[in-house]
Amino acid sequence: MDCRSNNENQNSASTSAHDLKPSKIKFQYEQDDEQVVEQGDETITESSNVEIDEDTSMGAAAAAAADDDSIVDGDKTSADYYFDSYSHFGIHEEMLKDVVRTKTYQNVIYKNSFLFKDKVVLDVGAGTGILSLFCAKVGAKHVYAIECSSMADMAQEIVKLNGFSDVITVIKGKVEEIDLPVPQVDIIISEWMGYFLLYENMLDTVLYARDKWLVKDGLVLPDKASLYLTAIEDADYKADKIEFWNEVYGFDMSCIRKQAMMEPLVDTVDQNQIVTNCQLLKTMDISKMTSGDASFTAPFKLIAERDDYIHALVAYFDVSFTKCHKLMGFSTGPKSRGTHWKQTVLYLEDVITICQGEAVVGSITVAPNKKNPRDVDIMLKYSVNGRHCRVSRTQYHRMR
Ligand SMILES: C[S@@+](CC[C@H](N)C(=O)[O-])C[C@H]1O[C@@H](n2cnc3c(N)ncnc32)[C@H](O)[C@@H]1O
Repeated sequence: MDCRSNNENQNSASTSAHDLKPSKIKFQYEQDDEQVVEQGDETITESSNVEIDEDTSMGAAAAAAADDDSIVDGDKTSADYYFDSYSHFGIHEEMLKDVVRTKTYQNVIYKNSFLFKDKVVLDVGAGTGILSLFCAKVGAKHVYAIECSSMADMAQEIVKLNGFSDVITVIKGKVEEIDLPVPQVDIIISEWMGYFLLYENMLDTVLYARDKWLVKDGLVLPDKASLYLTAIEDADYKADKIEFWNEVYGFDMSCIRKQAMMEPLVDTVDQNQIVTNCQLLKTMDISKMTSGDASFTAPFKLIAERDDYIHALVAYFDVSFTKCHKLMGFSTGPKSRGTHWKQTVLYLEDVITICQGEAVVGSITVAPNKKNPRDVDIMLKYSVNGRHCRVSRTQYHRMR
């Protein structure tokens, strides 16, 4: 597991999902630009027939786990820290250098210019304005670039530097609070995805903009997002990140082990670690869904493809732009080219000894944390009834 680096920001409420240390970004890009827009190559198994309690409430343990105020330092709330984190250029550098992400958006826009020609576009969370610039370049009539962090000032300057001041209007403020100079827009474009797809909860902002300004039959780009689950062997890294706390220089620090178990780890998983099939958990249609659809319970049945041990379940997502001339999108799965989203690892309390053909069945319940909706509460139920392992357990996690 030496290919992996812990995302240290998972440990701090004061950092955002995209706030990685630049030194940790070591992608290997061997493919050309065309290849990054192909759909993910994961084997997807459709939903299983496992019978699962559909109750999406997280229960008392999760509530206790989530019992944390969003006030993190003096008068600053975690929301303040969230928006502050996007004021620094480093986070934008990291996103722009994520070639899978940025090239896919560029290709979607450049190869489908007919969608944008003479259209009014709203860029939700514009950052440096990169998506607005792409849209302006292919002939959008006007682009409104909304950005709440002070990066909006840079976006304004960048728009001017590149001669698009007539076409792009940068509006500094929260989407939920600004006045848009036009009553309706034809297209909403946004890169809103967080770790585990839903961390940061920026999806709500896109849905708000859609419901307020998008013309009937207007486009939301991307319009589909799906979450997947698989299971991995991860003995060495689990020992290093979790069991480490059991005995530190001769002292018992197992109280920290509990916290480490609870926080999903954002990290790169080698595809050779995958023991089971990869299963689709949930697809969201961004053009139709409601905010409540981001809270759900999904059953899973992960079937072992070899005899092995399972230490963790791994979640990842893909996004699609289905209104393009040809389907475009990208996957953040372990079998696809690396992105800054990496994958999300949920360590299991049990080490599962699994034989080929046996299944880990269960369900995953996902919901925004009630006190801090940018965090995600996850309840994981799993059971195995195999030759060498019989286990049934419920675990609670929180992305923060
Ligand atoms: C993931 S970044 C994407 C930036 C840019 N679109 C890109 O692709 O490089 C999301 C941006 O949305 C902004 N943002 C998040 N929530 C917002 C809101 N409610 N109103 C306005 N901007 C928001 C953040 O400050 C951040 O710059």
